[in-house]
Amino acid sequence: VLFVEQERHGGLKMIKEIQSLIQQAVGEDKAINIEIPENPAHGHYATSVALRLARREKKPPLEIAKELALKIKEGDQKGFFEKVEAAPPGFINFWLSKKALAGEFLKVVKIRAPYGKSTKGRGRKVIFEYSDPNIAKRMHVGHMRATIIGDALANIFEFLGYKAVRWNYLGDWGTQFGKIITAYKLWGRREEVRKIPIESLQKLYVLFHEKTKSDPALEDRAREEFKKLEEGNAENRKLWQWFKTESLKEFNRIYRAFGVSFDTYIGESFYEAKMKPLVERLLRSGIAKRSEGSVIIPLDEFNLPPALIQKSDGASLYLTRDIANLEYRISKYKAERIVYVVGNEQTLHFSQLFSIAQLLGIQGSGYIHVKFGLVLGSDSKKLATREGRTILLEKVISKAIDLTRRIVEKKNRGFSAGQREAIARAVGIAALKYNDLSQNRLSDITFDWDKMLNLEGNSAPYLMYTYARLRSILRKAKKPRRFDADTLESRSDTDLILTLLRFPDALEKITQDYFPHHLTDYLYKLAKQANAFYQIEPVLKAEPKLRDARLALVGAIADTLKTGLDLLGIRSLERM
Ligand code: ARG
Repeated sequence: VLFVEQERHGGLKMIKEIQSLIQQAVGEDKAINIEIPENPAHGHYATSVALRLARREKKPPLEIAKELALKIKEGDQKGFFEKVEAAPPGFINFWLSKKALAGEFLKVVKIRAPYGKSTKGRGRKVIFEYSDPNIAKRMHVGHMRATIIGDALANIFEFLGYKAVRWNYLGDWGTQFGKIITAYKLWGRREEVRKIPIESLQKLYVLFHEKTKSDPALEDRAREEFKKLEEGNAENRKLWQWFKTESLKEFNRIYRAFGVSFDTYIGESFYEAKMKPLVERLLRSGIAKRSEGSVIIPLDEFNLPPALIQKSDGASLYLTRDIANLEYRISKYKAERIVYVVGNEQTLHFSQLFSIAQLLGIQGSGYIHVKFGLVLGSDSKKLATREGRTILLEKVISKAIDLTRRIVEKKNRGFSAGQREAIARAVGIAALKYNDLSQNRLSDITFDWDKMLNLEGNSAPYLMYTYARLRSILRKAKKPRRFDADTLESRSDTDLILTLLRFPDALEKITQDYFPHHLTDYLYKLAKQANAFYQIEPVLKAEPKLRDARLALVGAIADTLKTGLDLLGIRSLERM
């Protein structure tokens, strides 16, 4: 058995290790890019550093690659690499030795914290803003995407040691409240709002828009009501507060179903009092200027249209509140990064906001608009429309659960009614989340229920099922306390170890580009490989020494699947 240092944190990353070995050979401490080749014939890992050095040293890249490969091999006293090979036009490909794989695998097994957890982000605060529904309006599928993606990202960053602040920036301010208050005063019924709050408020909003077609004066009334609300008029304040309380009750039902929670719900209304002083300050500093009664910030230097920050009637805007919001987050929360998980369609808004932040000299080390595409219906049309014909999120959730329940019942694996219900709930919600997280977030997604619930493909049920299956193997035999990792030497053993070792790298990548599908891709690959392994290689029936080592391997895979699913916001089941 290899001697293994006990690692307190699972911060082991193959890529980091290889990087430092190359750094030694090259004799520079500049970061060296290491890739995982698509084609396994190109090694376990590869680097193109020779191509870069060739330009500097004016030598053919392949020659440099060959020299380096030799040097790395010579410096590899411990036999970390089995093979280091130069390949045209100037790549260096690496294969880890069996001994190295076994050694690394032992590290994975021995860490006390969950494998992959690290303290890398310690002391760094990142605000994750997501969900952000608008009160008195139904939460739509766009808010659902934000909720799912934002929650997963916050989980992953937290796992890597960052301090994540989960922020639900409620849309609880704006001229639309003038409209809803007007409509409520004219046509609303208290009982109805009490019974079905959001639905009736949304109806009033739609009604308002219909009525303005024949009665344009309603718009003036709405502006007045909003102004009164801004000025603190007691009646309007009370109505607004009531709408907000009722809406939150409904939102919380959805958050409970999704198992997400927030650190703060500070929303747009919070910044209301900061509007006037902010606009004045921007005017004084020359960043903003008056234009035909309103106030704008010219953004020509950023190639963007001017930003309107105050209307001619003095009302503030969505963007104005976001400027105050950003300043507050930097000054009061001392956030190092702010991650806005908001749909593609708000790209212009965030480009303007971030440009204004630059003008204000508060660019910090990062504001990121983590955008995502629309949710389309099967007819490829957007599911939500302005006229209130939004599809009910709660209906989507119950459909996912119903469909899952049907499958669980059909499979009839001897579960009690209560167990079946618990499985249907867990898997249904998981399928919804996974469908969202496993696709490139920039693309539009559809609800393809068959695919989402497929037990074979890249889906939550498949991963959950794989996990349950591995757990059932482990239930049949006790996980050994000692084992000899060197016995894991067949190709399927070492391939699995190699995949296991890539878990931290997948997470690391997400801290750089905020694409959660790196993790789902990883987990899918791990699950596929584990299933194939189990089909061709004996585990429980292997000879005792190998059996123990393989049980340890199965245990590590199951744990990693569980950790990964947890990070995605998916609760795995021990049996299903
Ligand atoms: N409430 C807004 C909407 O539903 C999204 C808010 C996005 N976040 C922000 N900081 N502007 O469209």
